[in-house]
Amino acid sequence: MTTKQKRLDELKQRILADKVCPELAKTATQLVFGEGPASAKIVFIGEAPGKKEDELGKPFVGAAGKFLNDMLEMIELSREDIYITNIVKYRPPNNRDPFPEEKTVFLPYLLKQLEIIQPLLVVTLGRHSLNCFLPELSISAVHGQPKRTKVVGKGLKSETLVILPLFHPAAALYNGGMRQTLIDDFAKIPAILKRIQES
Ligand code: URA
Repeated sequence: MTTKQKRLDELKQRILADKVCPELAKTATQLVFGEGPASAKIVFIGEAPGKKEDELGKPFVGAAGKFLNDMLEMIELSREDIYITNIVKYRPPNNRDPFPEEKTVFLPYLLKQLEIIQPLLVVTLGRHSLNCFLPELSISAVHGQPKRTKVVGKGLKSETLVILPLFHPAAALYNGGMRQTLIDDFAKIPAILKRIQES
């Protein structure tokens, strides 16, 4: 096992040991920590696990996940190439939006996850995920536009992250206009990654 993977496993155990969001933990089946290679160059961040994710213990395995997989295939990537996680790591009851305090308590663990993985690009899925990093921005105004931001004092090697805000695939799934916008934004990922690697 690589050092990064070992550190990710330790972080997962720490979330359990720290008893993060005990109320959510009580109603959820299990912790959905994240999935993918610890060496991934791209990390995707959603909101919180849904019903299927809660059952299987893996992120994005329901309808939104299927759509995401199709878009990855479109840019010649697969789930094995990327790391994927959520801000909140337990399913909120009845799929309600996560409460602000739930996002706040999980944020340091998410930042630690990024510090371990050291991705070149962070793709935020939906407004909750975007606003964790860039609280002042509106997803409808900035989707598809990479933003370089400082994550101050969180131990990230580069200190800055490139964030690509995308619409959430669950929101776009049944909304024709948003769906096409998400597909078009997704198609920009290879060029954005190339630009980062060359800079
Ligand atoms: N929606 C999310 O935000 N995350 C998942 O894991 C599944 C659906």
